Amino acid sequence: MYSNSIRYLVPIIACAAMPVGLALGQDATAQTPVTQKNPVKEYVGSRKCGRCHEQHYHGWKSTLHTKMEQRVIATGYNQTVLGDFSSKDPDLTFTLDEVDMLVGSRFKQRYAKKIGDDYYMLPAQWNVETDEWVPYNPKKDWWAAEKGLYPKEWYKRPNSKLCEGCHTTGFDIQTKKPVEQNIACEACHGPGRLHAKTEEKADIVNPARLSHERGNMICFQCHMRGRPPKGEFETYAWAVGYKPGDDLRKYWAYSKPSGKNQYGLWADGYARKNRVQGNTFIQSKMYHKGVKCYTCHDPHGTRHTAFTVKSADTNSICLSCHGENSQSAVFKNDLSEHTHHKATGSGSKCIECHMPKTGKNAVKWDSRDHSFTFISPLSTIRFGTPNGCNNCHTDKTPEWALKKVTDWTFLK
Ligand code: HEC
Ligand code: HEC
Ligand code: HEC
Ligand code: HEC
Ligand code: HEC
Ligand code: HEC
Ligand code: HEC
Ligand code: HEC
Repeated sequence: MYSNSIRYLVPIIACAAMPVGLALGQDATAQTPVTQKNPVKEYVGSRKCGRCHEQHYHGWKSTLHTKMEQRVIATGYNQTVLGDFSSKDPDLTFTLDEVDMLVGSRFKQRYAKKIGDDYYMLPAQWNVETDEWVPYNPKKDWWAAEKGLYPKEWYKRPNSKLCEGCHTTGFDIQTKKPVEQNIACEACHGPGRLHAKTEEKADIVNPARLSHERGNMICFQCHMRGRPPKGEFETYAWAVGYKPGDDLRKYWAYSKPSGKNQYGLWADGYARKNRVQGNTFIQSKMYHKGVKCYTCHDPHGTRHTAFTVKSADTNSICLSCHGENSQSAVFKNDLSEHTHHKATGSGSKCIECHMPKTGKNAVKWDSRDHSFTFISPLSTIRFGTPNGCNNCHTDKTPEWALKKVTDWTFLK
């Protein structure tokens, strides 16, 4: 079996080694993992998987999971550099010659320089939507900065500790090398050398066969903000040692809403930054009813934005479960009964009211909330959380929107 040893050994030893009164101020269920079990030999890499799973391979290749870390290609049809390096912008303090690796491409692009055996992020980022350079510096309200773990200087902040576990597959903290750059098959299916030999389904993790909690944790390992538990890996910003199928909470303490605006979450628990899909989704009824990240997203690629299984633009992704004849129907005859907007207009798009852009990835606001509840204009009045109504009705106040929406009636 793929991970027997890890699954059954870690909890026992970890409990014994756990300091009494572990106080993280977050999720106290996190325990100390014993050691990074990272036998690189167990991995084979996505090309090998692709030989037998051709369709999955090609579909996956079309997703942004394969483009997180890219080589520098400055010109030509397969150009990867997005930033304008001819710019005289004072925020741009380095040249393209210094860049050894690109990180990101959809919302923003950051630039890494190799020094010794590690990469370090250069201090400016390119914002894609607004076509501009902005400074990229460590934030004061981030836990590692708060504890003074890392100096402010960019060349003292190694990617191996701060980034690589979430941007690569099978990252080895000793050699500081991944098995493969980017988020590949084995990041979600676990190491697959044995399976590639035996072709047995028992030798590979299929998330569909895990409980919805364990299945979702595969995505949470990267899409859930938090911090490491105290112990050997407490200076890493990612879940060292976790493998698909494991209980992530042993490796990672989830950030939770605290009633105050914090770095990743608004006081009321909505997304204030990117990559809090896990933190927000676990608050929703849908999570508790067994819906998974991959109920809506197919990591092996689709033709829709963010590889959603159906279009969000036409509402079909939501209507497959909330359509007029379904158990969780939100209208009887016409969608406008629920949305109070023209059924065919933008004001009737589920995601604009139920997953509004409330978080900052590159700019305010470009990152969608994943708690799926309707974010009331009251949240804006209380905490400043953006709400869907005023994201569109920018010329109106939250008080106006609150009044309108409380006048509406809904199907019960
Ligand atoms: C030599 C061919 C071969 C290679 C290489 C291979 N697989 Fe498979 N894989 C199979 C076959 C055959 C099955 C169907 C097994 C069955 O149904 O009993 C399968 C099934 C699976 C399943 C479904 C398991 C289930 O529970 O239904 C997953 C997931 C999977 N493979 C992932 C991978 C990954 C990831 C890799 C690379 C690490 C990989 N495979 C490499 C042949 C291969
Ligand atoms: C705990 C996991 C994790 C860590 C640690 C992490 N990231 Fe990410 N990063 C993600 C995930 C997941 C996304 C995509 C989430 C989203 O869009 O909301 C992302 C998105 C990004 C993007 C935007 C990509 C795009 O296409 O616009 C950049 C740039 C980025 N990360 C850089 C970094 C850098 C630099 C570090 C280290 C200093 C880092 N990240 C550390 C998980 C992580
Ligand atoms: C980001 C995570 C992720 C990545 C990367 C990924 N998979 Fe999957 N894979 C999943 C999930 C989740 C499922 C279960 C989907 C479901 O509910 O049916 C799955 C299911 C499968 C299955 C079972 C058959 C099926 O479609 O349900 C195969 C085979 C498979 N993946 C192969 C691959 C191969 C090969 C790669 C790399 C080329 C790959 N996967 C990359 C998450 C991933
Ligand atoms: C090893 C870390 C890792 C894992 C595991 C992972 N992701 Fe991601 N995910 C990322 C990063 C990093 C990005 C940003 C990629 C980029 O912008 O190039 C991302 C981006 C995405 C995106 C946005 C793609 C787009 O087109 O904008 C979706 C959707 C997504 N992930 C869903 C999932 C789901 C669902 C799972 C679990 C089945 C999962 N991810 C597992 C790291 C991960
Ligand atoms: C009920 C469906 C649903 C579920 C469950 C879901 N998502 Fe999404 N997700 C969406 C839709 C819809 C979009 C927006 C697609 C678009 O822009 O067209 C999206 C967008 C994203 C993006 C792109 C970034 C952004 O802010 O738009 C990422 C990353 C992502 N989801 C990751 C996840 C992860 C990880 C999980 C599990 C924690 C998850 N999603 C669960 C429907 C879902
Ligand atoms: C796979 C089926 C499925 C899909 C797809 C789905 N939902 Fe749901 N949704 C459910 C179920 C089941 C519930 C719980 C119903 C209940 O218990 O009353 C639910 C509940 C909800 C709730 C009430 C949640 C709460 O916490 O109060 C909202 C809002 C919602 N869904 C919005 C959406 C939106 C928006 C989409 C599309 C992005 C979507 N759903 C896609 C199945 C789904
Ligand atoms: C213009 C904004 C708006 C749009 C668009 C919208 N909703 Fe809603 N939705 C709301 C509001 C407001 C509530 C809260 C109702 C309440 O609290 O009783 C709600 C409640 C819900 C609920 C929870 C019902 C309950 O009380 O159990 C579900 C499920 C839901 N919406 C699904 C959807 C789906 C699916 C779509 C797209 C087809 C959609 N909504 C489009 C504003 C909207
Ligand atoms: C995605 C954009 C969008 C969202 C989200 C949205 N609206 Fe609208 N709204 C529109 C558009 C476009 C119209 C024009 C008429 C139509 O499409 O029904 C409109 C019309 C209206 C009207 C009637 C005209 C007026 O200005 O007096 C009211 C009232 C209204 N919206 C209130 C709300 C409230 C309250 C919410 C949140 C629950 C909301 N809207 C969310 C786009 C949006």
